[in-house]
Amino acid sequence: MERIYIFDTTLRDGEQSPGASMSVEQKFEVALQLARLGVDVIEAGFPVSSPQQFGGCRLIAEKVQGPVIAGLARAVERDLERACEAVAPAERPRVHTFIASSPIHMKHKLNKQPEQVLEMAAWAVRYARDRVEEVEFSPEDATRSELPFLCRLVETVIEAGARVINIPDTVGYAVPEEFGAFVRRIMEGVPNIDKAVLSVHCHNDLGLGVANSIAAVQNGARQVEVTVNGIGERAGNAALEEFVMALNVRKDLLPFTTGIDTRQIYNSSRMLANVIGFPIPRNKPVVGENAFAHESGIHQDGVIKHRATYEIMTPEAVGRDASTLVLGRHSGKHGFLKRLEELGLVLGKENQDKAYQHFLDLADRKKEVYDDDIFVIVRDEIGEQLNTYTLSYFNIYSGNMAVPTATVRIESGSKRYEEAATGDGPVDAVFNAIDRAIGVATKLLEYTVHAVTPGREALGEVSVTVEIDGRRFIGRGASTDILEASARAYLNSINRYKTAAKETGGQESGRHEPGGQQTTGGESL
Ligand code: KIV
Ligand code: ZN
Repeated sequence: MERIYIFDTTLRDGEQSPGASMSVEQKFEVALQLARLGVDVIEAGFPVSSPQQFGGCRLIAEKVQGPVIAGLARAVERDLERACEAVAPAERPRVHTFIASSPIHMKHKLNKQPEQVLEMAAWAVRYARDRVEEVEFSPEDATRSELPFLCRLVETVIEAGARVINIPDTVGYAVPEEFGAFVRRIMEGVPNIDKAVLSVHCHNDLGLGVANSIAAVQNGARQVEVTVNGIGERAGNAALEEFVMALNVRKDLLPFTTGIDTRQIYNSSRMLANVIGFPIPRNKPVVGENAFAHESGIHQDGVIKHRATYEIMTPEAVGRDASTLVLGRHSGKHGFLKRLEELGLVLGKENQDKAYQHFLDLADRKKEVYDDDIFVIVRDEIGEQLNTYTLSYFNIYSGNMAVPTATVRIESGSKRYEEAATGDGPVDAVFNAIDRAIGVATKLLEYTVHAVTPGREALGEVSVTVEIDGRRFIGRGASTDILEASARAYLNSINRYKTAAKETGGQESGRHEPGGQQTTGGESL
């Protein structure tokens, strides 16, 4: 069995998905879980792009042990300098530098001749190698590059000191057989390829990211770049869980191993979905709600008689066995903390206490608390501390003969904003009141509500997508009261906008003057 190295780029390419941006603290949480999952490399970000990107990489490099920590850099000095500095504290730092190699990118994007690209790439790799032991190089848009030039470029950067060569299918253009042959030709056409590990990075524009990655390992690639839940630019990247389970299930055809603890897959997937606010599609392979559900009578009958009739892997193999475990008020703090640990939710003492209090409140309102409830509790508890605005009070008046009216009180540090508004319905009224209170102009693009767990007393989770300043932000909120969940989700999307605005130096053109009355602490409504 040959070892395949798993390079996880959830925190870099994944975070580039529209609406998936994470705060430094959230990236750190996810990085800890990736280490538990057993990835070999965590690409922690693109340090030059913002102080937060730099800070996230630096924190992960300082505190996350086990995996190699990589930072991305274009082949220019400022990028390389920031990336080297950001990953320096890691046990094993890596700089990942790239420059485009396809005719279309070189001509239209870079406005450079191929010889200039060769020179820049070799210079960048030498620059990074002088500062960091491990350097990875990617010829961007490799699959639309001319093979003889690509091979020359790869040979040159290996000569300059690159020890990992990554072949990105940047636009998700390749198809498996062709891509496998392409990888094989690079393996055979680059004389010094034995000095490097060949890697692939497949985008999913045609839904072929995982299939192309498999074709690549069958033809000599030994590192695969993936993301949890397949998030990433546009249609995303090859999904970690699908790639790893394909190797696992088809050992007969694919004699490869990875360092992944497959029992951590489900937790990793749910944690990420909660952090970024993207629900996992029900039919998503391996981690979707329906991935192990059998609906038709024939299938159910088969599974009862022998599971393998309709299951090619077990839910236990990906850590889904205990997911139905139910806690209640009488489970006690010990039971609650034990479950947090099993779910990979590592909290400090203070957060543990707050999460437990939140759990007790919920257990009072609904008798049974499921794992999915716990993820929501922890997300809200951690998220609350990062928020610019919190909802401290709301009141909604509605009925078939009444004008829906909402009143909100929102706090931000020592400030309080209070406002009332009417609307077409109670949700519209509370959104209008929030708009008036904090003065951010939003356009609501999407609103969905679903029950987190079974039963009439379930937590309702609301997800909203809003546009502010031409950018999309997704917010989520949960409560046994769906109007409260709606208000929280809406405020969460505005908080995400605020975090993003801080990252870009505080430019907030989406802001208009707050209509909300600012009051001092203690003032009543
Ligand atoms: O898709 C791509 O080409 C990339 C590179 C930076 C590796 O993400
Ligand atoms: Zn990419």
